[in-house]
Amino acid sequence: MNILLIGSGGREHSIALSLSKSESTEKIYCTPGNPGIANLSEIVELNISSHIDVSTFCKLKNIDLVVIGPEQPLAEGLSDYLRTSNINVFGPSQFAAQLETSKDFAKSIMFKYNIPTAFYRTFDLSQYDDAHQYIDLHSLPIVLKADGLAAGKGVIIAESHSEAHEALNIIFNGEFGNAGSKVVIEEFMQGEEASVFAICDGTNYFILPSAQDHKRIFEGDLGKNTGGMGAYSPAPIVDIELMQKVENQIIKPLLNGMMNEGHPYIGCLYCGLMIKDNNPKVVEFNARFGDPETQVVLPLLEGDFAKLLYSASISDLDLYAVRIAQNKYSVCVVLASNGYPDKFEKGFEINGISEAEKDGAIIFQAGTKLNNGKIVTSGGRVLGVTSIGSSLEDAVSKAYNAVEKIEFSNKYYRNDIAHKALK
Ligand code: AMP
Ligand code: GLY
Repeated sequence: MNILLIGSGGREHSIALSLSKSESTEKIYCTPGNPGIANLSEIVELNISSHIDVSTFCKLKNIDLVVIGPEQPLAEGLSDYLRTSNINVFGPSQFAAQLETSKDFAKSIMFKYNIPTAFYRTFDLSQYDDAHQYIDLHSLPIVLKADGLAAGKGVIIAESHSEAHEALNIIFNGEFGNAGSKVVIEEFMQGEEASVFAICDGTNYFILPSAQDHKRIFEGDLGKNTGGMGAYSPAPIVDIELMQKVENQIIKPLLNGMMNEGHPYIGCLYCGLMIKDNNPKVVEFNARFGDPETQVVLPLLEGDFAKLLYSASISDLDLYAVRIAQNKYSVCVVLASNGYPDKFEKGFEINGISEAEKDGAIIFQAGTKLNNGKIVTSGGRVLGVTSIGSSLEDAVSKAYNAVEKIEFSNKYYRNDIAHKALK
């Protein structure tokens, strides 16, 4: 198979690695890619907002499958355009991707199909006064969410009513642009978070190992929200019984619901869960693989990942294309630029990647670029250092050993990845 992969982060590096190890993969092209992905594929320059350009490239190179990594091309309807051009795509339609691109849409689907989630109400700008009144009647804390895509910044958990009023004004005043023309106000859910990804073909699904992300910048889950500072898989809190609840109460009704709406869901369904008393509720859906979770989940798969995604794309899911490695655990520590998620310097040379790899670690590149033949930092999250072990402890210790081998100026990372699960 010839595959076109779209994206440039650690998530796409991990997808590229799994595709490159698949028997059915002949050649991988990637756009825009990064220096790590360049070792596994041919990097091509394409304007992915120009759907006709992408489609023309696919015809020219006999592309059998397009894999879309990030949410933005899904929101722009790239999957729909390619499908009408008879090109197979792993990634949901623009309509189905609203599960991620509109919090209000996701909540309305969840309530319509009885999927457990926090109680909520949605207000638009014309309901400004009603929204403020609703806040006054709401118990604390109150969760406010800009409806649309806001790069992970559109969620505010207000501990007081005055903070909630202020947050509402910030969203309505255009801080998140069009994404804030509607606001979802919802109940705060207690519990522990985990994520579960399902590879879906519209009707059937294959569940990948569960994972936990570390969203905050500082140890002990303190400080600002980030894209994710590390992850581990599987998450002990998602045991067999809980996974059955996730399937029966969330994934099956969601797939049936989307089919019923006339928009079958084809792609990776990311279920962000809050777990309390062994019961899952949905915090959010994403219409794509999570990052950095993908950097721990995919290395635990054996078999032909490309075949899995291809079979999903043609709505004929091959449940035997991959297997989940037994008794293996993986941990990813993100190496970031000091200052991230705010201001940070970049352009520093990175050393030690091959030394860390010699010890068995997998180094996924995210915020890197080539400068005169050297790999330098170019983003907030620079590398994902993943190690596999026979226990979570083993994987943690291997990952931190590898972290020590990699050097660049202003390197920052959390020292407590997966510690919650070790307690
Ligand atoms: P979201 O973008 O909807 O996933 O929200 C970002 C983060 O905010 C989540 O990962 C949770 O940590 C937190 N969060 C969102 N909604 C809620 C809620 N209703 N109750 C508690 N925490 C929440
Ligand atoms: N790790 C969170 C996300 O991918 O949205």
